[in-house]
Amino acid sequence: MRVLGIETSCDETGVAIYDTEQGLLAHRLFSQIKLHAEYGGVVPELASRDHIQRVLPLTYEVLAEAGLKLQDLEGIAYTSGPGLIGALMVGASIARSLAWGLNLPAVGVHHMEGHLLAPMLEPEPPSLPFVALLVSGGHTLLVDVPRIGEYRILGESVDDAAGEAFDKTAKLLGLDYPGGPLLAKLAEQGRAGSYKFPRPMTDRPGCDFSFSGLKTFSLTTWQASAQTEQDKADIAYAFEEAVVETLFIKCKRALEQTERPTLVIAGGVGANKRLRQRLKDLKAQVYFPRLEFCTDNGAMIAYAGALRLQAGAVEPAVIQPRPRWPL
Ligand code: KG4
Ligand code: ZN
Repeated sequence: MRVLGIETSCDETGVAIYDTEQGLLAHRLFSQIKLHAEYGGVVPELASRDHIQRVLPLTYEVLAEAGLKLQDLEGIAYTSGPGLIGALMVGASIARSLAWGLNLPAVGVHHMEGHLLAPMLEPEPPSLPFVALLVSGGHTLLVDVPRIGEYRILGESVDDAAGEAFDKTAKLLGLDYPGGPLLAKLAEQGRAGSYKFPRPMTDRPGCDFSFSGLKTFSLTTWQASAQTEQDKADIAYAFEEAVVETLFIKCKRALEQTERPTLVIAGGVGANKRLRQRLKDLKAQVYFPRLEFCTDNGAMIAYAGALRLQAGAVEPAVIQPRPRWPL
């Protein structure tokens, strides 16, 4: 089954075609980073308007790359939540209209399920069951996955998501948007041992997280320092170490608790080099999606949707995005 996937939940337009026999045929991404940069964050209305302009051109690009025509598609999947309501409306409206016009089945996919299944697009995918760490700008979740479609939440952030904490800390250190990757880059210049940051909630049982305190800790440490460029890099280093170590401790705990042999990492923060390095120390098989499939993309939506459609999922032809939607 050949399925078109459309992702428009935030500030990236992703479109891809996944074939259940042949795998991923083509994928394209358009990032709105430049559009939002001068505002220091995502402006929802601008995001929606830009998605409107990108979805169809990207669709024609992936079709051309795969050597297909619109009529060759057999299903359409789109992100129906969680995310920005306007941005989701765009993807849902275009996907549902295409499906209606082409007389194809369409399904709305949960954005985090898409992230969670992204490692399945790799040439050597993980086998089930596994534990998944979902770390993005909007979510930090540890999930037990006995099989695809069954997700048991083991722990989640009680405040900021890990990516959000990266972005907010970057902002208060004066870094540009989007801050997460820039903070990680700056941390490479930082010196180990300059500052010691807490590992929040690791002294309590369970797998929940809390990252907002680290942001405040970074600010007060910065204000008390001489505010040199080296201080900034040292704080970035200490902040990143604290997030990475906290995630490491909780992943270890989740693996012990579930006795699963495999850990799968997904979501934008999964692109963090230090995290990728550190999690390899776990006594488990650890899987990461390739960097471009850690952050938002259409391939993960095409894949998750293709599985659902292949299993016979039928949804009413209504446009009903869910900006808030638990996994
Ligand atoms: O999954 P994603 O692309 O979008 C959401 O669904 O949120 O994740 C984006 C998040 C942002 O907060 C971004 O700062 C963070 O992932 N991120 C990183 C890195 N690359 C992206 N955080 C730390 N280190 C990175 N290298
Ligand atoms: Zn995402």
